[in-house]
Amino acid sequence: MTRSELLIAPSVLSADFGRLAEAVQQVEAAGADWIHVDVMDGHFVPNLTVGPPMVEALRKVTKLPLDVHLMMTNPDSFIEEFAEAGANYLTVHVEACPHLHRTVQSIKERHVKAGVTLNPATSATTLEEILPEADLILIMSVNPGFGGQSFIETSFQKIARVRHMIDQAKSRALLEVDGGVNLENASRVVKAGADVLVAGSAIFNSADFAQTIHQLRTSSQTVTV
Ligand code: DX5
Ligand code: ZN
Repeated sequence: MTRSELLIAPSVLSADFGRLAEAVQQVEAAGADWIHVDVMDGHFVPNLTVGPPMVEALRKVTKLPLDVHLMMTNPDSFIEEFAEAGANYLTVHVEACPHLHRTVQSIKERHVKAGVTLNPATSATTLEEILPEADLILIMSVNPGFGGQSFIETSFQKIARVRHMIDQAKSRALLEVDGGVNLENASRVVKAGADVLVAGSAIFNSADFAQTIHQLRTSSQTVTV
């Protein structure tokens, strides 16, 4: 199956929250494909961030798809609100959803793309049954909760394994990778099988967003001599 064109999704977790609208517009102008929004509940992960009102606010300042990553227990009770707020993708954790099939259906019923994500220690095999239903699979390459962490090396094998599963199943699900992605490892992440790169600190801590996004996008094409 032909691989999709690589997409770059800046994570606004690493942006200046006091000037979030401006940051989103800057990365949009710099060539970003999606805006990745990290929702943390202080329970599933040891950090608190934003909820549906922030998604609604961001919806008004960008045309880009809002890729909303729900790091929360019981996401089911907020799906309606996030859908109403304007999320284009809602991604839930396997570890937080005892009735994952129902959760995914409930996302899709609201005409939102459904993503399923795995923590680093969760086996790729947990995706087998849900894969035909998912629009997006997100592999966490750090333990979720914070930006700016280091990429966990074993994630490369997991990305390759999930790439194989997606291709074998002839699934149209996009494969996204989140956590510690930077200019040094992006090429290997893409070669392992990623369709979408989330990058927070690598983009927002760089001096030139456009250049960094361009370098991430083209990194796998760079020929080393
Ligand atoms: C981590 C979040 C990530 C994070 C990525 O829990 O899900 O989206 O913002 O940030 P970097 O790219 O800095 O690791
Ligand atoms: Zn994320």
